[in-house]
Amino acid sequence: MNKARIAVLVSGGGTNLQALIDAQNNNIINNGEIRLVISNKPEAYALKRADKANIDAICINKKECGSQEAFEKAIIAKLEAYGIDLIVLAGFMSILSEEFTSRYPKRIINIHPSLIPSFCGKGYYGLHVHEAALAKGVKVTGATVHFVNEIPDGGEIIMQKAVEVKDGDTAEALQLRVMEEAEWIILPAAVEMIAKEIAK
Ligand code: GRF
Repeated sequence: MNKARIAVLVSGGGTNLQALIDAQNNNIINNGEIRLVISNKPEAYALKRADKANIDAICINKKECGSQEAFEKAIIAKLEAYGIDLIVLAGFMSILSEEFTSRYPKRIINIHPSLIPSFCGKGYYGLHVHEAALAKGVKVTGATVHFVNEIPDGGEIIMQKAVEVKDGDTAEALQLRVMEEAEWIILPAAVEMIAKEIAK
């Protein structure tokens, strides 16, 4: 069987990358294989996670590339060299241009730590998302996997999972619960679903 070739783009700790690696090892992801990890930050712990799992991992830094265009060209060159079919943004903190996203229609997915359309778009990243959810007083939040297009967090929704907000929650506590109960579950599930389509 031909497996879909997956690249995971990261910037930080890489717990979602780890969830994908674990899912691959546990046969939750069967129709795809992570072939490449790209970080835009040299210090990202996600690069170490990839190394430990024997996955090729590289850093492509925007500053070093000199421009958004050169940065994206460098990413595209690697994606092509590895014959990548599916690009997974897993905590990738750099916005990709329309030139980039339109090159891969329905082939880029992202995980966002809220129930889109709540708490998403410009400025809603990391802890800010959970701070906003707590400030609004919502009783339920969650995570969303969606296709990536030119609008930040605006592409078609693929999968969502709700998570309860508890009395006394801090943004950090809520972030962790959303990861454990939603992100680390729906990201591998969505990757397998799309990989299955690609591998057909
Ligand atoms: C996650 O909350 C993800 O939803 C968001 O960035 C965070 C990345 O965490 N887009 P990690 O690097 O996967 O641990």
